[in-house]
Amino acid sequence: MNRKGIILAGGTGTRLWPLTRAVSKQLLPLYDKPMVYYPLSVLMLAGIREILLISTPQDLPLFAKLFGDGKTLGLSLSYAEQPKPGGLAQAYHIGAGFVGTSPSCLILGDNFFYGAELGKLLASAASREKGATIFGYQVADPTAYGVLTFDAKNKVTSIEEKPAQPKSNWANCGLYFYDGRAVEFARTLRPSARGELEITDLSRCYLQDGSLHGERFGRGSAWLDTGTAEGLLQAAQFVQTVQTRTGMLIGSPEEVAFRKGWIDAAQLRALADAIGKNAYAEALRQIAAGS
Ligand code: TTP
Repeated sequence: MNRKGIILAGGTGTRLWPLTRAVSKQLLPLYDKPMVYYPLSVLMLAGIREILLISTPQDLPLFAKLFGDGKTLGLSLSYAEQPKPGGLAQAYHIGAGFVGTSPSCLILGDNFFYGAELGKLLASAASREKGATIFGYQVADPTAYGVLTFDAKNKVTSIEEKPAQPKSNWANCGLYFYDGRAVEFARTLRPSARGELEITDLSRCYLQDGSLHGERFGRGSAWLDTGTAEGLLQAAQFVQTVQTRTGMLIGSPEEVAFRKGWIDAAQLRALADAIGKNAYAEALRQIAAGS
């Protein structure tokens, strides 16, 4: 069965107020693209083409304006409302009909990933048919995240949400691969003390089942925080630095669609022409021309 993708792009974005009072964080610029382009590109790199985007009732029409039905990117995109931010695992209540019993991948709409090993880790997670795969990234202060410990065979041995005394420095990234049982497991969850359906609790269902795999990003990879003004600027500067130096794009769904063979060079050029005359469109034209 094809793996389905979910981008969770709601939330309140209070750490970015007043920036996000009128518009969703995931539509803000991360250098030269809307933030949501980056997680969308990650799902596409994992080979996922059927994608549900979940956001607030106010913001959902803006995402639909940005991507439409996704056909020009070789995708099938659909949209669903999250009336209130009831937690990350709520994605599997809202998306229950869309996911059904298919394997799936959930990515948070504000998560930025970059690195040479990304493709390899995504491919290995996507090919795992049974169980779940979650990802760890080493951070100096993990107390604001889900915190993971691993055994020698990359099985996750513990997962704790925002612990005061973390058992490791491995923060759980906002990228989750689940097998076809995710919707069923999500139905068993109850809201936590803060009133949210916790993704940590969904992953814990797999932990208890003995099928929670962990992949660790190494030093050569970046997982950046875009949820604060400082983090957003740093991530934008990171993209600008790498793109300017290499002449290659980071997080371009148009490029990924082309490289995956889902659209051809003429279709990529048409996407560039629809953008017009700017550096982003020019980069796409060069990719279409074979560079
Ligand atoms: P958070 O960063 O935890 O929350 P937030 O984006 O609302 O920001 P803040 O803490 O500044 O108020 O959310 C992580 C991601 O998940 C982000 O992309 C928003 C999204 N999200 C939802 O779409 N629905 C939800 O119910 C929650 C909790 C988060």
